[in-house]
Order: sequence, then structure tokens, then C-alpha cells
Amino acid sequence: MEKKVSESEVHSEIIVLPADTNMFGDLYGGRLVEWMDNIGSITAFKHSRMKVVTGSIDNLFFLSPIKLGYIVHLHSFVTFTTRSTMEIEIDVSSENVTSGTTSVTTRAFFTYVALDENGHAAEIPQLILENEAEKQKFNDGEIRSEQRLQLLKNIKKSINSID
Ligand SMILES: CC(C)(COP(=O)(O)OP(=O)(O)OC[C@H]1O[C@@H](n2cnc3c(N)ncnc32)[C@H](O)[C@@H]1OP(=O)(O)O)[C@@H](O)C(=O)NCCC(=O)NCCS
Repeated sequence: MEKKVSESEVHSEIIVLPADTNMFGDLYGGRLVEWMDNIGSITAFKHSRMKVVTGSIDNLFFLSPIKLGYIVHLHSFVTFTTRSTMEIEIDVSSENVTSGTTSVTTRAFFTYVALDENGHAAEIPQLILENEAEKQKFNDGEIRSEQRLQLLKNIKKSINSID
């Protein structure tokens, strides 16, 4: 079975409360990553309809601070799939509630692995690419996937050499 990108795309908005910020009134980076992983996993569940785990998070750069009381906009969608993995792009921006000004905060790629009831990697639906933008994102995702797997291989090798 194949699925469209739009079938698992998620938009979400969250207001930043005092418990989400440090003493300067800025949103904790870790809290934002938690929200990103949450929305990314919802997309992965909707695409696969299986148990999923977060396999990796690509580089994360925070480009603009998010302040107490701002609205955080999160947008999550599948860009690339392999037999059992989904690369999910998560775009984050913030909105100043009084001025209405918006700023881009980050864009990151999370990879989720679908698992069967025995905890083994399971086959997921592949993507139906409906337009040029989705095809471009898929091609870019394929390149990132190769780089990610090489990095994973290197990390495993270096960990094994410590043991
Ligand atoms: C991710 C995990 C399931 C992979 O297990 P594994 O035994 O290496 O799985 P496999 O070798 O069968 O790989 C399955 C697929 O995932 C990919 N993969 C494996 N580890 C990956 C990782 N860390 N990041 C991205 N992709 C990964 C493989 O390339 C393979 O892709 P395919 O669809 O092309 O076949 C396992 O390492 C794990 O459980 N990690 C912990 C996850 C976790 O706890 N996350 C945080 C809390 S949710």
C-alpha cells in the first residue's frame, strides 16, 4: 500500500507558558525538541499505523529565540521513506501574539523506524509523490539518508572500538 504525504501531515500550535522557559523568559531548546518529536511521531504513526521509535535527529540549529507567551507553530510531514523508516521534516516558527510578527526558528529532519509486535523493523507504506516539490524533497531525503547511515555506521564502529 502507498500513502500520500498529505495523509499524515500535521499542523500544531502551542503557547509558551512559564514552565517552558528559563529565567530570561526564553523557551528551553529541549522543550522545543520534545514538541518536535511529539508532532513528528504523530506523523509517523499516521503514515505507518504501527509502533514507531525515533531513530535519529539530524542537526538542529535554533535561528531565533521563542519568548514566553509566543505561539509556536509546528508543521510536520514525511519527506522520504525506506522499507521501514520515515524521514520527517519539522518546521518551526514563532508568532508574537501582540504584534503578529512571525519568525522562523528551526527546520529539522527526524527519522522514525516502524516496528512489528516482535520489535523488528516492519515494512511501511511507501510515498505517493504528487508534485515537483514533494519529488524534490524525496530526492534530497535520499541523499540525507545515505549520509545518515554512513554516520550511523561510523558511530557504531567507534563505540565498538571503545568496548
Ligand atoms: C532504531 C532501532 C529500532 C533500529 O534497530 P536495528 O536493529 O538497527 O534495525 P535494523 O538494522 O533492522 O534497521 C531497520 C531500518 O532502520 C534504519 N535504521 C536503523 N537505525 C537507525 C537510526 N538510528 N536512525 C535512522 N535509521 C536507522 C536501517 O537503515 C533500516 O532501514 P531500512 O528501512 O532501509 O531497512 C534500534 O536501534 C532502537 O530501538 N533504537 C532505540 C530507539 C529509541 O529508543 N528511541 C528513543 C525513544 S522513542
